[in-house]
Amino acid sequence: MSCSPCHFATRVRNVIVEAQTLGLLSENSLLTGYSGKCVIALLQRLCDAFTDQNRCYLEIGVFQGMTLLHAAPHCKSEAYGIDNFAFFDPEGKNKSLVLSRMEQSGINNAILINQDYEDALEQLHQYLQGKKIGVYFVDGPHDYRSQLMCLQLVLPHLATDAVIVIDDCNYRHVRLATSDFLRTHPEFAMVYESYTQAHPHNLSGHASENAVNGWWNGIHVLIKTPGIRGSSLPQTTRSRVVYENEHLTQTVRFPLLMIQTSRLLIDLYKGQWYKFFKRSLWIRKQTKESNHEWVGKYDFMNTYSENLEERFHDVSKHDPLDNETHPHP
Ligand SMILES: C[S@@+](CC[C@H](N)C(=O)[O-])C[C@H]1O[C@@H](n2cnc3c(N)ncnc32)[C@H](O)[C@@H]1O
Repeated sequence: MSCSPCHFATRVRNVIVEAQTLGLLSENSLLTGYSGKCVIALLQRLCDAFTDQNRCYLEIGVFQGMTLLHAAPHCKSEAYGIDNFAFFDPEGKNKSLVLSRMEQSGINNAILINQDYEDALEQLHQYLQGKKIGVYFVDGPHDYRSQLMCLQLVLPHLATDAVIVIDDCNYRHVRLATSDFLRTHPEFAMVYESYTQAHPHNLSGHASENAVNGWWNGIHVLIKTPGIRGSSLPQTTRSRVVYENEHLTQTVRFPLLMIQTSRLLIDLYKGQWYKFFKRSLWIRKQTKESNHEWVGKYDFMNTYSENLEERFHDVSKHDPLDNETHPHP
């Protein structure tokens, strides 16, 4: 069912205000994770308002199930969660933790898709069984490209009226990804953006409490509905210098050591000489031992193109989900 664009936007705005003022619809004390109370309340209330037998809930980034399993009881059909459990899971326990919490809480409409989000989104039609997504929550990998791909790859699966909630929008590159998506997809509109002072892990006292009880690390809410024409964009900086630098970090000899190298700079900046020395030795060892697809042959301008073939492409094959035309490495 679709309604006039302004009416839909108003309904979503009302739900946001209710999430802020009235809070959670239900609480499950078994659940742990990285999210703010307002974010969880919003997901519950959006599920209550905008899912039905034909419109389900989907989230990228389940971790230990805090958002998925709080939202699922308010979802009127399936609640899908995609996670490859590649992060924040040193002991490899998160998947079984989510499954056992699901069972303990008697939640039987939540479906865990244990896959990389790109693979899962490309095969999503197999899971959805003809249903569309009414509420979509993006909380997976937060690099610029993944943020954008999470928005792009879901497009064929969104319901006529759909709401997208994007977490961790305090980050400058996450805000830019939303902005770039909106600039290239005028059929979506932004209805809400809100930020906290910093990532909750860098806050203390009242500021930390406000983030944990509120919008965690910042939030964007977008809508898609027939006739909508979005014009406002989230707050971003005009300078693109860091994004342009990405080309250089991709093409240096040791791209995977860039993070440790910048930690080395922090040690230097803070005068932490022992750490600096230890880290330098570790980096040195890694450079000697590294010999895999992420290590370049040259110091700079690595292209990794030596084994690529010349190919003519058969343009009669249109299906973007066809694995033959889009093989996975
Ligand atoms: C911030 S946590 C999600 C928090 C969660 N929504 C909660 O309620 O606590 C991000 C999650 O994204 C997952 N993730 C990161 N990269 C991924 C990828 N490429 N595909 C699927 N999941 C991924 C991580 O394994 C991690 O569990």
